[in-house]
Amino acid sequence: MAAQKQKARATKVSKKKPEETRKLVPIFIMGQRYMVPGSLTIQKAMEYAGFQLVRGCGCRGGICGACGTVYRFPDSHRIEVGLACQTVVQPDMYLAQIPFFPANKAVYDIEKLSPTGSDVAKLYPEIFKCIGCNVCTKSCPMDIDVMEYVARAIRGDVAGVAELSFDCVMCGLCAARCPAEEAQYNFAILCRRLYGRHIAPRAKHLAERIREIEKGRFDRPLQNLMQTQHDKMVTLYKEREIEPDMADEDWTPGDARYV
Ligand code: SF4
Ligand code: SF4
Ligand code: FES
Repeated sequence: MAAQKQKARATKVSKKKPEETRKLVPIFIMGQRYMVPGSLTIQKAMEYAGFQLVRGCGCRGGICGACGTVYRFPDSHRIEVGLACQTVVQPDMYLAQIPFFPANKAVYDIEKLSPTGSDVAKLYPEIFKCIGCNVCTKSCPMDIDVMEYVARAIRGDVAGVAELSFDCVMCGLCAARCPAEEAQYNFAILCRRLYGRHIAPRAKHLAERIREIEKGRFDRPLQNLMQTQHDKMVTLYKEREIEPDMADEDWTPGDARYV
């Protein structure tokens, strides 16, 4: 869902006429001016400008949250936010990346916690410092109503936080601008873990598959693969059956021995 949302946003920003995308546009990276093709994402534009991205760059697909970026335009006071791998450059963007933002990260054993909200409050007591300014929501590149999930955490609504924060990519942009020094994404992932461990119904098919693994159903094929020569392995990989795009929900491969 996260990727779909990012893809939709990227498509929206890149609806430029062909002549606009070919054109070089000026952007500012850490105060320095560069001319880059107007069709590039911020991440690609930085590479075009000669930067080598060894931090603040992971999946390149709007999932990992490593590329949180803030920017503004000279004629505006507004601080804009986006993921560098998803946001297309615009003329005169002043850019700065936030590759990592330090935030309170509690250590816990999920088995020993209850999904009631009181344990979340014990581990993250700063949730009660929220002043309701809504800056976190405005900062979120995933369009999540962050302030609302903070409010749900305060009310002890663990399932509600888990549901609302589902698309969070842990970019840290909300925490970077929060005047109450909250670690929104860290208590949100705690709520999702609590939900997954203690509230969500157990998946029967998963339990069945674990039983099959424990009984050794996949031992032989795995051993065979481990003994396969490299060239043969490459051929097997290239010839593997791939689920078609837009396949039916009940699609199964031709060789369904291990499904
Ligand atoms: S930015 Fe911080 S203080 Fe403001 S609403 Fe969000 S969590 Fe609350
Ligand atoms: S909730 Fe915070 S950490 Fe998660 S995607 Fe939004 S801004 Fe990033
Ligand atoms: S590099 Fe992973 S979200 Fe941008």
